[in-house]
Amino acid sequence: MRHLMIAALMLAGLAAGADAQAGTKDPCVATPDTSAAGGQSSATGGLADPGPCRISTSTKGSKNAKSSNNTKGSSNGKGSGNANDPGNGNGNGNGSGSGNGQGDDSDESKIQQGLAIAPVPLDLQGRNRALVALGSYIVNAQGGCGDCHTWPNWAPNGDPYKGQPKAVNAAHYLAGGRPFGPFVSRNLTPDPASTATEEERYAEFVKAMRTGWDPDQAHAQISSLLQVMPWPAYQDMTDRDLRAIFEYLQAIPHAEPYCTPASTDPVCK
Ligand code: HEC
Repeated sequence: MRHLMIAALMLAGLAAGADAQAGTKDPCVATPDTSAAGGQSSATGGLADPGPCRISTSTKGSKNAKSSNNTKGSSNGKGSGNANDPGNGNGNGNGSGSGNGQGDDSDESKIQQGLAIAPVPLDLQGRNRALVALGSYIVNAQGGCGDCHTWPNWAPNGDPYKGQPKAVNAAHYLAGGRPFGPFVSRNLTPDPASTATEEERYAEFVKAMRTGWDPDQAHAQISSLLQVMPWPAYQDMTDRDLRAIFEYLQAIPHAEPYCTPASTDPVCK
């Protein structure tokens, strides 16, 4: 158990450093059309946009191609003061207040990158496109959520650790089912059977991410808190980043876990 926790913390540590890594990659290589500014204004679907996720004009996008100020993005992620900040929409204020537009640029590049790297089709209907995209960036390039929640991690012949071109296991993407001793990662994909409102589910999600409270109380005899799950690291994310993750998790397709209690495959043991 202990080594799993350590592994989790290491993962979280890696995630924290991922910002710098992103800087080595041209964020505009695979740039989907972002000129659809309407996507932002119309796609709120009754959800308050917790932060100023501006989608700049497409000319902005080309300026971004420089990506030299991508490293600036780390100032966004740091946000140490944000943990105490109850106000929504502050996360992005960090860099942009100066009026130099840096905050926007780093956000913009993360949005581009987030859309480019999502390994599954996204349902953006009724959603804030920029928030979903930012969530994709956090989940896929920083948070490492798939390490534990997508299982097996890779599609056949898509295992980068074997030198193969990376291909995420899209069929079971974030559907959970990875065993960690007595604990099993949860299915993070939308549950069509859920009767809770989206805001109720969001409140539950934030509580789990900030406090580790297990909404399912799946192993109350061991602990009421989530184990293995690196919430002690994620709890320091800004409100806006957590909202972005949540929005992204609503936009991905429902999937079922590969591993079920009946599975005999060794990866399920
Ligand atoms: C090191 C492995 C690991 C990583 C990385 C990880 N999780 Fe988890 N997560 C778990 C496990 C295991 C559980 C179930 C823990 C338990 O049963 O005590 C869990 C549970 C959860 C839950 C509770 C779900 C519910 O409704 O019951 C949420 C939400 C969650 N994870 C979201 C995330 C997100 C978002 C990320 C990335 C930012 C992430 N996790 C990264 C292992 C991980």
